[in-house]
Amino acid sequence: MALLTASAAIPIVALDVPDRAGAEAVVRRLGDACGFYKVGLELFSAEGPAIVSWLRGLGKEVFVDLKLHDIPNTVRGAARSVARHGAALLTVHASGGREMIAAAVEGAREGRPDGGCGILGVTILTSMDATGVESAWGRTGVTVQDEVLRLAGLVAEGQGTGIVCSGHEADAVRGKFGGRLGLLIPGIRLPGGEAHDQRRVMTPAAAAEAGARWLILGRAVTAAADPVAAMAEVNQSLAGIS
Ligand code: C5P
Repeated sequence: MALLTASAAIPIVALDVPDRAGAEAVVRRLGDACGFYKVGLELFSAEGPAIVSWLRGLGKEVFVDLKLHDIPNTVRGAARSVARHGAALLTVHASGGREMIAAAVEGAREGRPDGGCGILGVTILTSMDATGVESAWGRTGVTVQDEVLRLAGLVAEGQGTGIVCSGHEADAVRGKFGGRLGLLIPGIRLPGGEAHDQRRVMTPAAAAEAGARWLILGRAVTAAADPVAAMAEVNQSLAGIS
């Protein structure tokens, strides 16, 4: 499917809003400048899968960021349901293991037999550092990069489509897995833009050059004084990078 194989990075705007009215305001404002949206836990919990169907009805692609983590059978069923509503991407926690990832891949295919719903594994949340990982998982001597690579390996074994990681791990992941895993990179900021609470940020062009297949744009677009102009700047900066 073109969206999962295109070589240029695809920008996805995060609908970090509490309800459909908030989502409508963003989607209406951006119009044709954005064709791909992220629905996360807040909006999905408020509106359910109808929000995915609504976006699909407007001709938009949808990334459903639920970061699933449960027994394989439960994750398979959830992935099937989300895919049936037309999602193009769905996240699971890579730490759920290769069996759980494989079950998610199977469920997504059952829900969307055209193969149009890819499963992405979340590696290490950008809110966690090495100390946080050590304390959560009872291990010592951890580096974030090694953990990202280890978890990416589970995603590859489970036949996942790709992973979520920070732009700063992109080179290492590309070095080990080449094009086998698509990279979805959050923490994107326009040149000179406000970092907000993100510790490690990258411009769209830098993330695309680091090998991102998808970029998550949150406040860089939605909190901009002129979101349409910000989105145009993102699209322009990605044009020509392949
Ligand atoms: O660009 P901004 O910081 O506003 O983006 C926040 C969005 O990126 C949220 O939707 C958040 O869930 C997502 N995200 C993130 N860091 C991750 C994974 C996702 O900021 N590691």
